[in-house]
Amino acid sequence: MKVVHSRAELDAVRTALSGRVAVVMTMGALHDGHARLMDVAGEHGEQVVVTIFVNPRQFGAGEDLDRYPRTLEADLQVCQAHGVDVVFAPAADDVYPPDETVPVVLAGGLGAVLEGAHRPGHFDGVVTVVSRLLDLTRPDVAVFGEKDAQQLAVIRRMVAAQGRGVEVVGVPTVRERDGLAMSSRNRYLSAAERETALAIPRALDAAERRSAEGPAAVLAAAEAELAGAPGVSVDYVALVDSETWAEPGPRTRFGKILVAARVGSTRLIDNREVTLCGP
Ligand code: PAF
Repeated sequence: MKVVHSRAELDAVRTALSGRVAVVMTMGALHDGHARLMDVAGEHGEQVVVTIFVNPRQFGAGEDLDRYPRTLEADLQVCQAHGVDVVFAPAADDVYPPDETVPVVLAGGLGAVLEGAHRPGHFDGVVTVVSRLLDLTRPDVAVFGEKDAQQLAVIRRMVAAQGRGVEVVGVPTVRERDGLAMSSRNRYLSAAERETALAIPRALDAAERRSAEGPAAVLAAAEAELAGAPGVSVDYVALVDSETWAEPGPRTRFGKILVAARVGSTRLIDNREVTLCGP
C-alpha cells in the first residue's frame, strides 16, 4: 500500500495504476463502516484508492472541525487490512492551493433543505471537495455510505450535472450490534450518551413498523419515539420520497425517513428506507 500526501505524488502513483480504479473518500477516524466501503470498492475496482482529508469547507462556524478526530496511523492500518492500494492523505494546501483557483461547486436545491438547512453551506463544501478529489484521483467508481443519504443524493446529482463518467455506488449503513449507525462522531459519546442515542435507531424501527399505514403514521411514529427520549434534542425528523426528495405523495412507494438529533454535544444523523403502501 502506497501512502501519499502531495498532489504530485498522487499523480505519479495514479498514472501508474492500471485497470478499474475505485475511490473511497473519507475524513479519517475510520471504523467498520468505512472498512465496508473499502471492501465494496474492491468488488468494483481492481485498484482501491482511499482519501483521508478533514475538509474545512464543509464545517460551519461553531461546528466540530477542530475537535474532529484525526487518527492517521490507525486509519492506515484499517486501509492496509482491507486491501487498499493507495491512500491519499493531503494537507489543506494540497487540496486548495492558495495560489490556485479551485472551483467552488454549488449543491443546488437539495443542498439547501434538511441537513443543508441546519448546516448552511455544508453541501457546497462537500460537493466542492468531492469534485476536487474526483479530479485528483480520476476514478472509474466512487463509493459512499448510505448513512449520509442526502450527501449521497447531492453527490449523485453533482456527478450527473458535471457529466462525469464516474459510477457512484451507495453502500448500506453498517450498524453496531445494538442498531446504532457507525459514525466517526460516535466516539464523542459517553457511555450514558451512547445508550441515549439508541433512541434514533428505535425511532427508525418504530417508523418502519407503521409503513403499511402511510406517510403520516410513519412520521408520527418516529417523532413520538424521539419525543419520549430524554436527552435527545431533535434537529429534524422528515419523510421524503426516496427518488425526488420531495414530500411523499399518494403514489410514493419508497420513502426515506431521516433523523438528525443531538445527544449531549454530539450531532448524529441516520435514516431508513421504508416501503409506503398505506393510505
Ligand atoms: O462523508 C464524508 O466523510 C465526507 O463528507 C466526504 C464525502 C469524505 C467529503 O469530505
